[in-house]
Amino acid sequence: MHVRSLVGVVVVPVVFVVACKTAETKKPEPAPAAQPVAAKPAPPPPPPEPKVELPPARPLPKAPLGSVEPKASDDNPLTAEKAELGWTLFFDPRLSKDGSMACAQCHHTDKAYTSGNVMDAKVGGAMNKRNSPTMVGLGVHSSFYWDGRMPTLEAVSAAAWKGQLGADPAVSAKALNDVPVYKAMFVRAFGASASPENVPQALASFFRALNTGNSAWDKAQAGDATALSKDAKAGEALFLKAGCAGCHAPPLFSDFAFHALGIGDDAGRFDATKDEADRGKFKTPSLRNVALTAPYFHDGHAKTLEEAIALMAKGGAVTPPKDPLLKPVKWNPKQIAQVKAYLESLTGELTFPEAPKLP
Ligand code: HEC
Ligand code: HEC
Repeated sequence: MHVRSLVGVVVVPVVFVVACKTAETKKPEPAPAAQPVAAKPAPPPPPPEPKVELPPARPLPKAPLGSVEPKASDDNPLTAEKAELGWTLFFDPRLSKDGSMACAQCHHTDKAYTSGNVMDAKVGGAMNKRNSPTMVGLGVHSSFYWDGRMPTLEAVSAAAWKGQLGADPAVSAKALNDVPVYKAMFVRAFGASASPENVPQALASFFRALNTGNSAWDKAQAGDATALSKDAKAGEALFLKAGCAGCHAPPLFSDFAFHALGIGDDAGRFDATKDEADRGKFKTPSLRNVALTAPYFHDGHAKTLEEAIALMAKGGAVTPPKDPLLKPVKWNPKQIAQVKAYLESLTGELTFPEAPKLP
């Protein structure tokens, strides 16, 4: 008796309230068929985001002996947080259209960030028409790609994200934000979640921090008379006498300018400037770590360092040489081996020698 009346007391108002609510929601709905959207209940609020506690960013690596200070960027000042984020992104296949490929696929740590192949296929299968260059010391370059068509590290990173990895930046940034650790890393580095603008800024920051030094040559420059072998010293004299340093100028062994060696039939710098005078010109590659970056030249056609040196000693692939700075010399195999020993003395330590742990 008691129980039944209690149930009555409780149930009746609930039913009443529900009935009222239904009546209320239905009221502004004159033709339900015409406006099906209005009948849908409001979506539930999103679940609270998991709180991510990040450890402090790995500090910017110490500049190794002889390494070159990167040029500062006013728009994107270098910080440890951005560099660590860029390093992580560079190795993460999540950046690609289909999750199949990371930047590092063509820029391996153990090959001074080159690929080791003559040419590589992009996401989707289209072939690159040039060899993957080293990423080390990019912070001092003033233009990017073999033909210099990209003006900044941010621009080349954005281009590679779309071109090599096939990414739609907005879709790709959203996918990164779906990973709580990434979102927290972006907020820590940029004060904002991942976006089409700050992903390339993070990659560019990584490149500014990716440096090399402490090679035998750097130690010799710093006064260690025993750092270079006898052959390397003989090779250095040959290298300087032949005018190689006119373009491969220390400390990065590049002038970052464009020269025609007559190799292959690629239009090179002409693609970027449309100036006939630039046809067949390519940015002088840095010879730092060159012993690790085979195959050589923009088209990767020289398999070994000896072959590359022999071709350069001849003044390139056409006689007479196309560039006035190229002065052909006759080097015998022993001399080529000595120049090779010298170039091997440019193999140094990298500030990012390994892949990061991915979130
Ligand atoms: C499928 C191979 C491949 C992948 C993947 C790749 N790259 Fe490259 N990268 C290349 C090639 C080839 C070049 C030279 C292109 C040219 O000069 O026309 C290059 C050049 C560059 C350069 C210019 C270096 C210089 O000396 O001017 C940068 C910077 C770079 N890549 C960054 C990236 C970033 C960032 C990613 C990921 C978003 C990436 N790359 C993914 C093949 C690749
Ligand atoms: C006129 C400027 C110039 C001079 C002088 C010069 N080089 Fe080069 N070197 C270049 C350019 C530009 C390339 C890239 C050309 C290409 O890929 O088509 C290159 C490429 C190379 C490479 C291949 C590097 C790589 O990563 O692919 C080596 C090794 C090399 N040069 C060694 C030498 C030596 C040794 C000498 C002296 C005998 C020399 N160079 C003189 C401009 C020069």
